[in-house]
Amino acid sequence: MRIKKRPWAKELYENNQDFYQKFPENLKGNWQNYFENSAPIELEIGSGKGGFITQLAKKEPKKNFIAMEINEMALAFLLRKQIANPLPNLRLVIGNAHEIERYFTMGEIANIYLNFSDPWPKKRHAKRRLTSPEFLKKYQNILQKGGKIHFKTDNENLFAYSVKAIANESNLFLNYLTFDLHHSEYSEENIVTEYEQKFSKNGSRIFMLEAQYLRRC
Ligand SMILES: C[S@@+](CC[C@H](N)C(=O)[O-])C[C@H]1O[C@@H](n2cnc3c(N)ncnc32)[C@H](O)[C@@H]1O
Repeated sequence: MRIKKRPWAKELYENNQDFYQKFPENLKGNWQNYFENSAPIELEIGSGKGGFITQLAKKEPKKNFIAMEINEMALAFLLRKQIANPLPNLRLVIGNAHEIERYFTMGEIANIYLNFSDPWPKKRHAKRRLTSPEFLKKYQNILQKGGKIHFKTDNENLFAYSVKAIANESNLFLNYLTFDLHHSEYSEENIVTEYEQKFSKNGSRIFMLEAQYLRRC
């Protein structure tokens, strides 16, 4: 859905430019100033309507969070929530995962969340998957030492692909994984995303992993 077709969203963006960042490259190396504190910064890539990051930001008020989304229409829903009830530790960014090294300097991000990323099932599109070796290298370049990737999906093929991609990275360790998050020991802590709710209602199993960078090359 294009934003032009939703006048409320267009107006929301025009009238509330302080509530989001359209040029994240201008903040590279200065994100803590933008948050006005020195707390760690966690990044969700592809946050959609933002249910997950909102709940996480409420749960962890001493950390900073960035919701990054390429689709302005999806982000408009989170923007509307943030204007109505601003969370001081949450910032909204219109951005493309492909460009993250232009947005963040080395070590600027503490942890990354990838929730129900687009599966890009065709082999020729494999590089677009947010857990491809190309993206894993980009994450390494913006994460601090010990930085983690939290990944959830309903797509078994994407999950298998992601586990393999992580296993092939010598400095990336798989801390844990589950093939059925909602019936696992991790379910209590789990924050359900909008897509997760939809998929699990339809009976899909949810796959989840956490991986961690232990050193830089
Ligand atoms: C399937 S939705 C999942 C949304 C949300 N994370 C959830 O679980 O409910 C995937 C989201 O990733 C966003 N996305 C896809 N490619 C992206 C990219 N390259 N950079 C940033 N966001 C992206 C899409 O616009 C979409 O909102």
